[in-house]
Order: sequence, then structure tokens, then C-alpha cells
Amino acid sequence: RDVADISPALLAWYDRNARVLPWRTGPEDHAKGLRTAPYRVWLSEVMLQQTTVAAVRNYFRDFTTRWPTVTDLAQAEDADVMAAWAGLGYYARARNLLKCARVVAFDLGGQFPRTAQELQALPGIGPYTAAAIASIAFDAPSTVVDGNVERVVSRLFALTDPLPGTRPEIARLAGQITPQDRPGDHAQAMMDLGATLCTPRNPVCALCPLEAHCEAHAQGIAASLPVKAPK
Ligand code: ADE
Repeated sequence: RDVADISPALLAWYDRNARVLPWRTGPEDHAKGLRTAPYRVWLSEVMLQQTTVAAVRNYFRDFTTRWPTVTDLAQAEDADVMAAWAGLGYYARARNLLKCARVVAFDLGGQFPRTAQELQALPGIGPYTAAAIASIAFDAPSTVVDGNVERVVSRLFALTDPLPGTRPEIARLAGQITPQDRPGDHAQAMMDLGATLCTPRNPVCALCPLEAHCEAHAQGIAASLPVKAPK
């Protein structure tokens, strides 16, 4: 097994099986150099922070129809944005969303910064969201680690020590399998794999593009990982 083979197998699967979501481009777009606009990546990732893909879909469409650019959103009335957010919950996210939109629109000339480090300095953008924007919008080889990625990596490398202690090792290994080519698609493919096949219970290893690369599957312990320390 070679870790360099993991991402190509994952991306080939993603090209056929990616969930079609309103903030994504397809493989043809990517081949032409088209990426999802940073505004759309940022908005979708903030909405997805504590909310499911199914719940976010329509809110994302409504927001981008009403406020097509970060400058449009920055100029909105606070009350209109809070009302449009109603139902998504965690309202601090909506307040930070507006703060961030105003910094980008009025202090940064309407352009999102391109590096994870600069992105993290913006309101409401933590390490996860910064890495997601840098990789998905700008093709920077940043590594995105969310709960799905933690599970997939724990299984690929059969990490039997419990979370959260294994987080540094998971981040290191997730970085090792992040490709220079298409890091944003790789990140989204890891999320889709975790959401659809490499699920917490009853993982569907028979359909998994990484079955041959998965140490936990080889040991017959995929379903039992990751182990979580008792709270
Ligand atoms: N969850 C968070 N970000 C996501 C994305 N870009 N695609 C799918 N699920 C996600």
C-alpha cells in the first residue's frame, strides 16, 4: 500500500459519485480551471458548520439569489440577514457572517484573502473554514479536517487510540494524503465518502474506492473506529 495512491482513487470515485450541491462545480468545470467563487465557498461552509447539507441547500440558494456577491451581503440590513438566517440556528454565525462580509467588502476591496492564515483572521472563520476556503476556492493544498475526515483517516490507518488524543496524528496523516493536484475536490471527496459510505455505523466497505488502501478494513475493525474517549 502506498499513501500516494489514495487520493487518485478517491478523486476518480468523486468524479462519478460527487453529491451535486449548489456550491459545487463539476469535473468538467474543474478541467477548464473554473472554481467555486470564494464567496460561495465561504457562505456554504459557514452555513454547514453546525447544520446538515439537506438543511443548508435552500438557505444557500435563497442567500445567493438575494445577495449574489459579498458586497451585496455587506450592504444588507442586519435585520434582513438575521431574518433570512432564521431556522438555521446558532445566530452568532449570522452576526459573524455580516461582520466578515463587511471586512471583505469594505476593507479588502471585495476580495477574500487566498491563504488559510489570512482567512483565519476574519470574523467567524476558524481553522476548518479557512482550510476549506483556501483549498476549494483557491486550490491551495490546505488540509481540511472535520468529523467525516477524522473517521475516514482513523480507518484508513487503523488508529485504535481514542479521540481526541489522536487528533494531531489524524491531522498529520490527513495532510499526507492531501494531493497538490485538486486539493479542494479531495477535501470534498473525503467529506462525501464519510457521509455516504464510510459512515459511523455499518460502513459500506464493499463499495468504497479506498477498500484496498484501508488498514481497518484489512483488520476487520472499520466499524469500530474511531474510538472515542469517554466524556
Ligand atoms: N460539509 C461541510 N462542507 C462541505 C462541502 N463542501 N461539501 C459537503 N459537505 C460539507
